[in-house]
Amino acid sequence: MDKKPRIGFALCGSFCTFKSVITEMEQMAQDGYEIYPILSEHAAQTDTRFGAAADFRDRIEQICGRPAITTMTQAEALGPGKCMDAIVVAPCTGSTLGKLAGGISDTTVTFAVKGCLRNERPVVLALSTNDALAGSAANIGALLARRGYYFVPFGQDDPQAKPRSAIADVRLIPQTLEAALEGRQIQPILL
Ligand SMILES: Cc1cc2nc3c(=O)[nH]c(=O)nc-3n(C[C@H](O)[C@H](O)[C@H](O)COP(=O)(O)O)c2cc1C
Repeated sequence: MDKKPRIGFALCGSFCTFKSVITEMEQMAQDGYEIYPILSEHAAQTDTRFGAAADFRDRIEQICGRPAITTMTQAEALGPGKCMDAIVVAPCTGSTLGKLAGGISDTTVTFAVKGCLRNERPVVLALSTNDALAGSAANIGALLARRGYYFVPFGQDDPQAKPRSAIADVRLIPQTLEAALEGRQIQPILL
C-alpha cells in the first residue's frame, strides 16, 4: 500500500453526526491514514443525549492511536510542525463554518485549520447545520469561493421537518479528501 497522508481530523459540536463520522474515521484508520484527532472545545466537553464526551474521546483516541488535540496550544504546534497533509472538519457546525468564513481562529478547530492553510494544505469541510439554507448560506458561499477549501458533498437531510437544514454525506469524506489533496473538488457538490 502507498504511504497514506497524515490527516488532521477535527470534530465540532454536531453531536448527532458523531456516530457516522467516527465510523468513517475508523475505516480511514484501517485503510492506513495517519490521523491526528482534534476536538472542538464543545466536542471535547459536552455530554449530550447522543453520548458522553469522555466516551467519544476514548473511542477516537483508540482508533487514531494518539491523544486528541483539544486546546489551542496543542493546535498551534500543528502549523510549524507541518505534520498535516490536509485537515478534515467533520462534522463542521454552522458556528465553525461562520468563524472560518470570517477569518476567526479563536477555537482549537479553527486554529488548527489556520495552521493547515498556513502551509497551503487543503481543508475539507463536512457540514452539518440546520441553518445551511438560512443564516449559514452566506458562509457556505464564501468558503466555496475561497482557495484551499473543499466540501464533502451535501444535501438537505429533511426538507419537510427541517427546511433549511443540510448535511454532508460523510461516506464521501475519503473521496473528497483524495481529490482535495490533488487540488480538485469532487462533484456533484450538491446531493
Ligand atoms: C445536542 C446538540 C446537538 C447539536 N447539533 C448541532 C448541529 O448538528 N449543527 C450545528 O451547527 N450545531 C449543533 N449544535 C450546536 C453547537 O454545538 C454549538 O453551536 C457550538 O457552539 C459549536 O461549536 P464548535 O463548532 O466549536 O464545536 C448542537 C448542540 C447540541 C447541544
